[in-house]
Amino acid sequence: MRRFPRGFLWGTSSAAHQVEGDNRNCDWWEWEQQPRRIANGDSSAIACDHYRRYREDIALLRELNQNAHRLSIEWSRIEPSEGVFDARQIRHYRDVLGELREQSILPMVTLHHFTSPLWFVRKGGWASRDAARGFLPFVHRLVDELGDLVGLWCTINEPSIYAANGWITGEFPPGHHGDLAAQYRVTRNLYRAHELAYAAIKRRRPDTPVGLSHHKFLFLPASGARRDRVAARAAQTVVDRWPVAPGRLQRIVEASSDYIGIAHYWAQLAAFDPRRPRDQFVRRFNPPGRVTEMGFVSDPSWMRGVLSELRRYRKPVYITENGLATEDDSWRELYLAKVLGEVHQAIDDSVDVRGYFHWTNMDNFEWARGYTCHFGLISVDRNTQERTIKASGRAYARIATANALSA
Ligand code: BGC
Repeated sequence: MRRFPRGFLWGTSSAAHQVEGDNRNCDWWEWEQQPRRIANGDSSAIACDHYRRYREDIALLRELNQNAHRLSIEWSRIEPSEGVFDARQIRHYRDVLGELREQSILPMVTLHHFTSPLWFVRKGGWASRDAARGFLPFVHRLVDELGDLVGLWCTINEPSIYAANGWITGEFPPGHHGDLAAQYRVTRNLYRAHELAYAAIKRRRPDTPVGLSHHKFLFLPASGARRDRVAARAAQTVVDRWPVAPGRLQRIVEASSDYIGIAHYWAQLAAFDPRRPRDQFVRRFNPPGRVTEMGFVSDPSWMRGVLSELRRYRKPVYITENGLATEDDSWRELYLAKVLGEVHQAIDDSVDVRGYFHWTNMDNFEWARGYTCHFGLISVDRNTQERTIKASGRAYARIATANALSA
């Protein structure tokens, strides 16, 4: 048996817009109504109807023996117009968090997970100068009204992915392509919003840990040749550090984070290619191996290295997301056991990992991919909304119950 530290958090991770349904007052809803934005012409629509079925869903988490759950609170529900707060919605989320607490499940609450209210977007959204300040009244209100129920705060979900998908690849709203200047502004504003939120939460609730979720997309050298090793390093620097001012991320981790949240799923190979000046002379491509529904390869053995890199910060680490998009549930079960073995190794290597949040509890609305990706430990029938725990979910429950991996 490989035991995990006492009090280790076993959870799953989710985001409001992907599961709640009928979330109409945000930029994503509007985006989904436009033709060809979402695979198969899907839209989040009723999603998993979790807004109404949260009690049933939390009961399933209990059945899976989870002691933690990461969820996001939808800003556009709480603050439907600028400066106007909806007491009924605040009560709804109090009920959700209260129900989690009742079931002994510690809530990690994300404040921004890819969706923004329409009023905020109309004012220029995250690319505008005052973006970070515009986010603060929502943060203050939540901390005042819900702070007693929150176990951990996660301010912003994956600044780098949000900015790249919205302003470089155009896969997310507002759908801009190659706008490096806006990508820079958005990323800077998101980190600024984190710093302001961190300070605001700490003033009101000094004992509740606050962090954010960083996305770690790995680049590995395509060969042992020096030019490919340099290419991989360059590609990694671009995703990790551009567009952040030098030293900024380090300062955020050191001065404005009680823990490091890390989301890791994928890696690609990087090879030097003189014919690609626009890609920094790097060709990026999938390593050999089975491709997931997302079109990327996921190898559990990458997790140990991702975590080991964080040791130097000497901070608690939570894996805020990790999972596999596939309908082959036995693959997920195997992946999960292997990746948790890697997490255990990292703990042995003295990385202070305190918890693992699997992405995700239920098959849900996977943004631009609609309902084509199946990350869940629980399936959801798209016609009847019936939930069924998969074998991988049962396997995860056994690990959580034992707080250990069996040989
Ligand atoms: C996001 C999730 C998403 C997952 C799988 C993460 O980057 O935070 O919302 O569903 O990746 O693509």
